[in-house]
Amino acid sequence: MSEAFVTPGEATLSAGQYDDMVRSAHSQTEAFWLQQSRRLTWQTPPSQASRSDFLNDVRIDWYADGFLNASENCLDRHVATHPDKTALIWEGQDDGQREVLSYRALHARVCRLANVLRRLGVKKGDCVAIHLPMVAEGIIAMLACARIGAIHVVLFGGFSAEGLAERLTDSAAVVVLTADVARRGDKRIPSKTTMDDAITRCGGASRVRHVVVVPVTGASVPMQAGRDLRYEDEVAREAEECPAERMNAQDPLFLLYTSGSTGRPKGLVHSTGGYLTWAAFTHAVVFDHKADDIFWCTADTSWITGHTYVVYGPLANGGTIMVYEGLPSWPEPGRWWDVIDRNGVTVFYTSPTVVRAAMREDDTVVRSRSLKSLRILGTVGEPISPEAWHWFHDEVGKGRCAVVDTWWQTETGGVMITAAAGCVVPRPGAASRPLPGVEAVLLDAQGTEITGAGEGLLCMARSWPGQAMSIWQDHERFRQTYFTTCPGYYFTGDGARREEDGYYWITGRVDDVVNVSGHRIGTAEIEDAVATDHEVVESAAVGIPHDLKGQGLVVFVVPREQGVFDPEAVNRAIAAGVGRYAVPEKIYVVRDLPKTRSGKIVRRLLRKIAAHDLEGLGDLSTLADPEIVDELIATVKAQES
Ligand code: WTA
Repeated sequence: MSEAFVTPGEATLSAGQYDDMVRSAHSQTEAFWLQQSRRLTWQTPPSQASRSDFLNDVRIDWYADGFLNASENCLDRHVATHPDKTALIWEGQDDGQREVLSYRALHARVCRLANVLRRLGVKKGDCVAIHLPMVAEGIIAMLACARIGAIHVVLFGGFSAEGLAERLTDSAAVVVLTADVARRGDKRIPSKTTMDDAITRCGGASRVRHVVVVPVTGASVPMQAGRDLRYEDEVAREAEECPAERMNAQDPLFLLYTSGSTGRPKGLVHSTGGYLTWAAFTHAVVFDHKADDIFWCTADTSWITGHTYVVYGPLANGGTIMVYEGLPSWPEPGRWWDVIDRNGVTVFYTSPTVVRAAMREDDTVVRSRSLKSLRILGTVGEPISPEAWHWFHDEVGKGRCAVVDTWWQTETGGVMITAAAGCVVPRPGAASRPLPGVEAVLLDAQGTEITGAGEGLLCMARSWPGQAMSIWQDHERFRQTYFTTCPGYYFTGDGARREEDGYYWITGRVDDVVNVSGHRIGTAEIEDAVATDHEVVESAAVGIPHDLKGQGLVVFVVPREQGVFDPEAVNRAIAAGVGRYAVPEKIYVVRDLPKTRSGKIVRRLLRKIAAHDLEGLGDLSTLADPEIVDELIATVKAQES
């Protein structure tokens, strides 16, 4: 280990023990994963680890004869050993709003809600949608679903009514939990009325029988008699005990929608046994989990990071989680540093976007805070530049903390490539090394494995317990999306470079997914939304480098009539079809798009033109109309000013 980057105190695993784990996971895979599954408490322990197959129809198969309940693993077993230990510390965005829940108290609240859901007729295997900001009830709702075997579908508060409707219809959710009104700094987000609108848009396709409204701000909202229920009234009627459903390891724990390069958002299906094993294993190993940690993952629960490292990983391991409702710099810069100091946060896991925004503030903001409780810092969602890495290490970690960049995806369930704290020497800017049992490979364009140093498509040669099992109701799409580009491998959609000694550097998506502030946005979703405007002939969305957000979204639009078209219409269509979070940086109104003779839009060119990167545009002779390129360059320049 390099002196500069060691974890303070004793890491639970030594670097040598970690290397042993890597070796045994590689050579005795089945036994290794059976052993890791024992981090959980099983009603019936599994006798086998994996029977997964990346060929044929593709089968992701983990712990198939095991039975367990995820909420029992996150609650009951800790109530049995340390009922008074703090499970969850919640702070609201207004001063003085704070709640501390012991494992006993969290268990009781989860059981009450689980009983409500059962009374409302929610059955094992039904989907329940959760549309809540960062309040304790969001986490309680996830665990309550898990308790009764319902599949939770957490929906981002920033989705438009149309975006919500699409996901409600696809999942066939029977009950929805929503906020009255959510808040983000000064802004108020009308969660309930947006949800009402979404359900109306579902029309006959809606399976929603009840909407349970959580009072986040206490605002008065319209309630539909018979359908809409008040959370506080409902839970008050129920007991604090609720028997947990016996679940097969392969039963879905949740669906989570994410964006791909084509088509509508897809609901990735995560299993109960494999996913939870992966959540517990990675949380313990990557963040060197210790019993007295206060673990703060700042992700919203509507993203996979929130599922695995706000909720399931730390709670499965009996840890204490910090949940904060508000923004990093509201009402003033340094708000999150105060949350760390006030609550003694020991592990702080956030995104490079947050680090970059903090870097832009005056250094006195971070220097005026103690931050002495911190032990480990982490980032996820996009590459962190060496510069931002060092700032995070020096200014937030005060040079005392391990910094772990973690590469992973919605599809992987948890961290895959990282410099596990105290075990692997980090290299600033690199994702670093695959975790034990992660068989990462690089393939060239012909699908051949690259050995040693090189750059190529990042794939996985073997399944791991956290791997998503399927796409909801569409296994064929799952197979097509992830297992046909490189047959026999799971294809991540990312490119990567590997050094001679096995360190990985992620070079970014190789497909048409744009990563804005760590949020995946599919260009197809944007284009579909823009197409709802009848004045638009066609459009193309691309990502360009952005200082703060990592990538910014740019849309080229070809209107029916030049001169009269209002580009604001594009923003409105995207806000309505996807959500305000996806509104682009820039819209260029153009006459045509660069296309191949077969009519395929050449996005590579649009990316370069939008980024003003005009070197090496490549061979333009394959374009149907090569002249369009100069015209686009001129248009972009003209519309820039
Ligand atoms: C990108 C988030 C570089 C990557 C957990 C991946 C990263 C996509 C990193 C998944 C990282 C995530 N370094 N790139 N540390 N972490 N990515 O599904 O392109 O929201 O494919 O999961 O984010 O985004 P998702």
